[in-house]
Amino acid sequence: MNVSVLSTREVAISSTNLALPGRRTGKVRDLYELPPDLDGGRRLLVIATDRVSAFDVVLPEAAPGKGRLLTQISLWWFRRLRRLGIVPDHVIHADVDAVPQLRPEDRPLLRDRIMVCRAAKVVPIECVARGFLAGSALAEYRRHGTACGVRLPAGLRPGDAFPEPIFTPATKAAEGHDENISFERGAEVVGEPLMRALRDRTLRLYAAAREIAAAKGLVLADTKFEFGLALDPSGRPTEELLLVDEILTPDSSRWWPAEELGKGVIPRGFDKQPLRDWLQSEVDAGRWDKTPPGPAVPEVVQTALLDAYAEVGRRLGAI
Ligand SMILES: Nc1ncnc2c1ncn2[C@@H]1O[C@H](COP(=O)(O)OP(=O)(O)OP(=O)(O)O)[C@@H](O)[C@H]1O
Ligand SMILES: [Mg+2]
Repeated sequence: MNVSVLSTREVAISSTNLALPGRRTGKVRDLYELPPDLDGGRRLLVIATDRVSAFDVVLPEAAPGKGRLLTQISLWWFRRLRRLGIVPDHVIHADVDAVPQLRPEDRPLLRDRIMVCRAAKVVPIECVARGFLAGSALAEYRRHGTACGVRLPAGLRPGDAFPEPIFTPATKAAEGHDENISFERGAEVVGEPLMRALRDRTLRLYAAAREIAAAKGLVLADTKFEFGLALDPSGRPTEELLLVDEILTPDSSRWWPAEELGKGVIPRGFDKQPLRDWLQSEVDAGRWDKTPPGPAVPEVVQTALLDAYAEVGRRLGAI
């Protein structure tokens, strides 16, 4: 495993190299195959590393503990939402000691950052729900009065709530930026019945999470879910829809402090914005062009990011 020690806080895991088959790496997570369960169900080991991505580039330095925060926040939500029965999820367990394939010496570094999951065929649609005027929707609203093509009432201010949350799907691009698509375009890609199911589950999950979070002083401005089709023992996709990946973390969601709501400005959220602002200042100064490798991030910027992520975990009671 590649580890580095940033100051004295804790070890950062930037990559893993476990003696397990089927290694796949995303921008943040490393995935491995585990032997099937007794019923032949395909299983994956999902490890959240401390890698940080911004502007779709993985930065050279990892943020120590970020993967743990992501995993603990995700698990808290998986547990909380599973009870509501909206859609089954992919989590089997998150106990590093219950994975006999892991070497004892790797366990301390992996503790609290793994999930053992049901493997799925991931549906190639990013399922976004938005409830507040922010981000790319704000720019579009100012120009056209719409957000991802959905007409909104006049007079909304930045950070105001929509009358109803909206479903704004995007393509899950293998490379480069995700692109917003219409419901109809999504239906061409995955079929209309599945697209309807994605919209229904996404909006119900968003509404439930928003209500739960509101009671904890957090506003869920928007979020992205991924879904997959469960696999049969031979690895073929079934019709069973599963909620997969991470959910409701500051990497996938826009979280705001409730006390900053309704002031006509976008609240300073618990997210990567300080990092993005710093990176943008590097771009503006001509020192970076948004291609890999990114610049080394000052420790104070990295600490601000970790603090913001931890605050979401603290308010929820997930950490
Ligand atoms: N149960 C599952 N079965 C199969 N794949 C999964 C499952 N849960 C999550 N994944 C996939 O694992 C990857 C998680 O890694 P990570 O979050 O780092 O990726 P990403 O950079 O966001 O996405 P990508 O690299 O696919 O664009 C994603 O590609 C996600 O779709
Ligand atoms: Mg991801």
